[in-house]
Amino acid sequence: MRALIEELAQAVGSSHVLTDPSTRAPFETDWTRRWSAPALAVVRPADCDQVAAVLRACSRHGIGVVPQGGNTGLVGGSTPRAGVDQVVLSLTRLTEVGPVDLAASSVSVGAGVTLARLQAIAHEAGLDAGLDLGARDSATIAGLAACDAGGLRAIRYGTARTRVAGLRAVLSDGRIIDRRAGLLKDNAGYDLPALLIGSEGTLAVITDVVWRLVPRLDARALALIPVDGFDAAVALVAGVRPVLPSLELCELMTDAGVALTADHLAMSRPVDPAPAYVLLECAATTDPLEELAEALHAAGVGDRAVVATDAASHARLLRLREAHTEAIAAAGVAHKIDVGVPLRGLAAFADQATAIVRDAAPEAQLILFGHLGDGNLHVNILGLHDEADRVEHEILALAIQAGGTISAEHGIGVQKAEHLPLLRGPDELRTMADIKAALDPPGILNPGVLLAR
Ligand code: FAD
Ligand code: MLT
Ligand code: ZN
Repeated sequence: MRALIEELAQAVGSSHVLTDPSTRAPFETDWTRRWSAPALAVVRPADCDQVAAVLRACSRHGIGVVPQGGNTGLVGGSTPRAGVDQVVLSLTRLTEVGPVDLAASSVSVGAGVTLARLQAIAHEAGLDAGLDLGARDSATIAGLAACDAGGLRAIRYGTARTRVAGLRAVLSDGRIIDRRAGLLKDNAGYDLPALLIGSEGTLAVITDVVWRLVPRLDARALALIPVDGFDAAVALVAGVRPVLPSLELCELMTDAGVALTADHLAMSRPVDPAPAYVLLECAATTDPLEELAEALHAAGVGDRAVVATDAASHARLLRLREAHTEAIAAAGVAHKIDVGVPLRGLAAFADQATAIVRDAAPEAQLILFGHLGDGNLHVNILGLHDEADRVEHEILALAIQAGGTISAEHGIGVQKAEHLPLLRGPDELRTMADIKAALDPPGILNPGVLLAR
């Protein structure tokens, strides 16, 4: 492997090839702490040409490459697999930012630009990124595109896929796909960028993204509504969604999650205990509070809604939802299962998932929360041991039975690669494998992620 390390050093400069265990360590364990393995080296290129040189070198040596952005992924796709020699390709030095194109409402950014930085750039231009999530300070734009991340505002703006107007990416043999024109309409040939979005680093390494921005809406109103359960939560969505064009966030929490998170934040609970809570936020150019209040009243929950009265209480209620992830991580290494379920079946799914966990591990702690409007539920379980694989399998199978998906926004990663055949048939899996073989003939890009080996 000495020869490869030397070629990598030639490609990016020796100070950007990390081989010492202590400097590699932060790149080798994922955010959840569920996945950890040593890398042969961590390579930190500065631009697209250097990425191509690294990939060509790894191809020649037949060494696997794990693309990594902010390492905030939750399915084990951004850190090395155990027992094989792999290089982590960190894209965080690709931070070039182009000018905001106001007419097109877009901006071209390097792969390693964080979501928080993109949001700040958009805000300065009177615009917004149209995507938000709790990992904004570390998650990178290419990481968002590679996972087709969703986040808290997908109900209004869609997932990362909707926001990507173009991109540049490098294939494992160094070929470059450059579609940065950012045109709204461009149907000349296969939509290769669309193929790369959600491909989790298995088809190409994204080096630049042209991101579609949205108008900045500063007038906001927020309400937290305690409800009797998931059926009531879904009924509330059905009541308010059609009459709230300004609806931008529609989230679900349960009492277990609110209690744990309030405790973690040392925050007093903003509302009396209830089986579930719906958090709604509206955003517009003029204050949408009246519109929200009327909708809640018409839905019969006006009297029990806790409405944010100022910026501080608004931020506190949002934080209560957003901080679920860190509160759970602070309590232990969780099994995090991200599923999508049609809203009509959400309550039954939640009941059955609860029964699976209770039967298999009565001591385990189950926390359900998620993006209610998207039918995207996060099943988090603390305290699973030997029964973990079986529980995970049964819950994923349950989501499919309910007409849903085994991954709504986090991706398949290594966590669910073995489970993908539960959802995708042999013809579809074969087609995916053919696409992988065509774009990555040596099979070096993120082996074991998405498609099981
Ligand atoms: P990484 O974790 O580094 O990588 C993720 C995947 O993308 C890996 O498979 C990796 O190989 C691939 N990849 C990374 N960069 C590239 C590249 N340049 N080219 C090709 N492939 C690449 N996700 C949501 O969808 N919604 C949420 O609400 C949400 N909230 C979160 C909150 C917290 C606190 C945390 C820790 C995570 C959250 N996530 C959420 C998950 C995570 O932030 C997203 O998946 C994000 O898109 C990952 O970006 P990243 O830069 O950290 O990518
Ligand atoms: C969220 O919705 O907060 C994220 O997807 C992170 C998580 O699932 O923990
Ligand atoms: Zn989420």
